[in-house]
Amino acid sequence: MCYAIPGKVVEINDRIITVDYFGEKRKAKNDFYDLATGDYIYAQGGFVVQRISRQEAEDVLATWKELFFKLQETDLRLARKPKDLRQIANALRQKHQGNSCCIHGILEFSNYCRNDCLYCGLRSSNSSLPRYRMDIDEIVAAADFAVKELKFKALVLQSGEDPWYDEEKLVEIVERIREKSPALIILSIGEREPALYEKLYKAGARGVLLRFETSNPALYGKMRPGHDPKGRIELIKRLHDIGYLIMTGFLVGLPGQTREDLLEDIRLTGSLGTDMFSFGPFIPHPQTPLAGSSSPSIEETLDAIARARIMNPESRILVTTSLETLDKENGLKSGLLSGGNSLMINVTPKKYRRLYDIYPDRAGTDADIKERIDSVVKLLYSIGRAPTDIGLGIQS
Ligand code: 5AD
Ligand code: SF4
Repeated sequence: MCYAIPGKVVEINDRIITVDYFGEKRKAKNDFYDLATGDYIYAQGGFVVQRISRQEAEDVLATWKELFFKLQETDLRLARKPKDLRQIANALRQKHQGNSCCIHGILEFSNYCRNDCLYCGLRSSNSSLPRYRMDIDEIVAAADFAVKELKFKALVLQSGEDPWYDEEKLVEIVERIREKSPALIILSIGEREPALYEKLYKAGARGVLLRFETSNPALYGKMRPGHDPKGRIELIKRLHDIGYLIMTGFLVGLPGQTREDLLEDIRLTGSLGTDMFSFGPFIPHPQTPLAGSSSPSIEETLDAIARARIMNPESRILVTTSLETLDKENGLKSGLLSGGNSLMINVTPKKYRRLYDIYPDRAGTDADIKERIDSVVKLLYSIGRAPTDIGLGIQS
């Protein structure tokens, strides 16, 4: 569970520290700081990601204390007496994961991609898409804004599979972000060499988001021409062995996907040591070979979230922007009430956001980031969820 309200270090055992949160003790791995007992930290996914001053910790904790218990009551009330599949999933989420909801920032730094996945608007054959690459200073500045100004504690750095960012550039990006604006850094850069991922771990990245897309090898071969599903799964396992937190998953409703495939997709996600499930509905893009296909229904997607929760009660399950895109009004809320307990907010500079055109009309593309955070936090409060990893100090 991500529990990034400030915690107080109460015990140190080499790299493993014990942290106290309102009397509840949790362990975290400290790879980055020289800590003493009594220090205050933020942890994410089991890693210490930031050391903070006593003053900051006390301010945030004071805001939290009452609110936290009030929210818990609302959540408990909404999770009572479940009647259908999604409500059962929601009750399980409440029981096993409590009411904390992770909010991660996502920074889309390049829309170049060397691959040609049939479903994706960034595919290399889509010559009508203007391409962009953010340079290193720009990426570091955008990350700094997200961490210092918006108070994100975890950042996903996402791009198409773009080898223009070689080892030297990626290491510099990760090192500079860790140094200037400490947060949990999660890489979403596609299938790159394990040796590169090892270097990036050393540089300070601790998470990887890499979906296996579909567990059906024949469907995979059709959708990702020239690619081998085994290699991708092997890479995910290797990244887990390196020590990365793994976020993985699949697409719901790919043309040709069966009900059995979908259940196998959920099972496979759970078997990969996954820290966070990431799966969302396929949405056809007009400039791809799948332009004429249709999306799955919202109900199918919500049922997939519910099944994933029931099969993996302890997991973190992301409610994706694609679900929100399918149902702009209620997608996020419905996902959170069907077993989901985490979400992402796009922190990409506005001028690039529209160009990260994986699928059309993405929810939140034109939103002002601060307004978007406000409206998400309001929604979370209304259903009793605690956005524990975004600076609560800034919200009222
Ligand atoms: N609809 C929904 N999700 C998509 N992705 C790519 N194309 C689409 C689409 N048309 C997802 C893939 C990929 C992630 C970055 O975006 O699952 O892993
Ligand atoms: Fe590239 Fe990923 Fe899109 Fe495939 S899904 S074309 S790898 S950005």
